[in-house]
Amino acid sequence: MSDDSKFYDSIAEGYDELHMAEQLRKMSDILAALGTDIPKKTEKLLDVGCGSGISTSVWSCDCTGIDPSEKLIGIAKKNYPKKKFLVGKAEELPFPDRSFDIVICVTSIHNFDDVRKGIFEMKRVGKDRFAITVLRKSQKVDEIEKLIIINFRIKKVVMEDKDLIFICKRRD
Ligand SMILES: C[S@@+](CC[C@H](N)C(=O)[O-])C[C@H]1O[C@@H](n2cnc3c(N)ncnc32)[C@H](O)[C@@H]1O
Repeated sequence: MSDDSKFYDSIAEGYDELHMAEQLRKMSDILAALGTDIPKKTEKLLDVGCGSGISTSVWSCDCTGIDPSEKLIGIAKKNYPKKKFLVGKAEELPFPDRSFDIVICVTSIHNFDDVRKGIFEMKRVGKDRFAITVLRKSQKVDEIEKLIIINFRIKKVVMEDKDLIFICKRRD
């Protein structure tokens, strides 16, 4: 288990109380920025670094969330029993190529052990739509922004209170 997963396991119980309102505000900005690209009921969405499932909860399509923190995944399963959740890392996504219509990643990418690999994996399992947010105060924000620009076709960038929201398409 990485130090980061240990950290998120240790704060899991209080996560929703501390972050629910802030993350839901972010989600409403993401939904607005996606516009007509919001997934339809039958489409498949993957939430990478889903935590307790707040960022997975707002969609009415076929949702899967993945996160390395066992405790946060336990909370997500309890709170959102109709959605699928599993323990795992962005760098090793256990899904076939192009198996999700949309891949989202909300305030998680700066935590990845290997951002380049995590982006490669999100691109591999996604078909064409991606919504990735980056914590503006993260020391890795410039590096992450460059990697997003290299790897995706940017449709829209929204400056949210705490995050930069990138709405992207595949390049190839
Ligand atoms: C600030 S939380 C965001 C959680 C959720 N997306 C939300 O909006 O509430 C950051 C998450 O990144 C996850 N994380 C850390 N390392 C990760 C990795 N290598 N791959 C995927 N997620 C990771 C943490 O476990 C944590 O749940």
